Amino acid sequence: MTEQTLFIVKPDGVERKIAGKIIARFEKKGFSIVKLKMFTFTKQMAEEFYSVHQSKPFFGELVSFITSGRVVAAVIEGNNAIATTRLMIGSTKSFEATPGTIRGDFGLGISDNIIHASDSKESFEKEVAVIFK
Ligand code: CMP
Repeated sequence: MTEQTLFIVKPDGVERKIAGKIIARFEKKGFSIVKLKMFTFTKQMAEEFYSVHQSKPFFGELVSFITSGRVVAAVIEGNNAIATTRLMIGSTKSFEATPGTIRGDFGLGISDNIIHASDSKESFEKEVAVIFK
């Protein structure tokens, strides 16, 4: 089932100069890059992008971190893209993420967990509309 998903290399990943390595993992897996963009989230974009987490205690920290520096967003395409990408990125808490996953290999943080990826078709459609207007 060919589908598209979106991932974002967060400010920590860009700052640490591992965005290229991360994109390469998705290419190596067989996904095609459909869209690619480097930018800095405005507060308004971040609040819209993460609106599902609005009521969570960490919402302020989340918005503050994602707006703290440049990010790289990509739309990729391939078989089972949404679920496979979620497997490749690993658990939200990087210190618990399985080695071999992106978070498991590159980080220890929660806000600074290197990468975000859409968790469903609905999230993808909403997120892509915020970033690639
Ligand atoms: P992400 O996949 O981008 O989706 C929501 C983000 O909230 C998550 O990654 C984390 O970076 C961030 N976050 C910050 N604090 C927490 C927390 N305590 N629990 C879960 N997610 C958190």
